Amino acid sequence: MDSTVITDAISKQEWLEPVAQGMQGAVSGAYAAGGETGKKVENFLNGVWLGHPLHPAVVYVPLGAWTASSVLDVMEAGGNEAVGPGADAAVAVGLVGALASAVTGLTQWHPLEARSTRRVGATHALLNVTATGLFAASLVVRKRGNRPLGRALGWLGCAIVSGSAYLGGSLAYEQKIGVDHAPRENLPRDFVPVLPEAELAENQMKRVDAGGIPVLLARRNGRVFALAESCAHLGGPLSEGALEDGCVRCPWHGSKFRLEDGQVVDGPSTYPQPRFETRVQGGQIEVRAPEIPQNGE
Ligand code: FES
Repeated sequence: MDSTVITDAISKQEWLEPVAQGMQGAVSGAYAAGGETGKKVENFLNGVWLGHPLHPAVVYVPLGAWTASSVLDVMEAGGNEAVGPGADAAVAVGLVGALASAVTGLTQWHPLEARSTRRVGATHALLNVTATGLFAASLVVRKRGNRPLGRALGWLGCAIVSGSAYLGGSLAYEQKIGVDHAPRENLPRDFVPVLPEAELAENQMKRVDAGGIPVLLARRNGRVFALAESCAHLGGPLSEGALEDGCVRCPWHGSKFRLEDGQVVDGPSTYPQPRFETRVQGGQIEVRAPEIPQNGE
């Protein structure tokens, strides 16, 4: 089956638009209201400190725990009552993990503007909320002694969260959310001229071409810096952004990269920006990718 059929169908659901926009507005508003602290929390939950999106790393907690609880429930329904406490514990662990998954997922999703990613992401979130509610209800009725109903609610929740995980995968693999959008391959290994030096003024940024790779040039305190032009977050044009304190801020969602080494100073990008070495030769600015360290060096 064409894997885009489901996401295309979801993308056409107009009723999802106000839901998605409302959810995104609430999350964006909460972070904006938090000021500097809100930004730090957002960076943490995005995974800037990890160098990788945090959401995919934590979703395995509820998925794993609820898969385990569902298997143990099958065993218990088959007569092995000794596994009941283990199933209940797995449901509870999954609920804690679901909370972490929700906040990291909403944090990663709230800046997205494309209709498809917005609606598929909202559907993914609504399904996860439904599954989490079912597991919470499952835990309550288990504790009240109605184990058959608790198991049934758990199985239903597991089916829903599995479908939701499919949508999460399509967001990553089809729509490239959370993947690195900066060029990392086929970068020029030898210096290539890209711009007459006189055409780059102090505190100015320019987009140039280096062997087919778009490169951002910036001059600050007389030094020329070069980073890949396409933002690692979602490919935004860095040369159309702003220079701030030795960094460039992306015009699309505000990621901030240090000119010196391309490291992320502010998310949502969790990946650093590829940097280039620069030199001036014969009045031309030249750039090349840094040499890759050899093993043992
Ligand atoms: S494209 Fe999103 S911050 Fe650059």
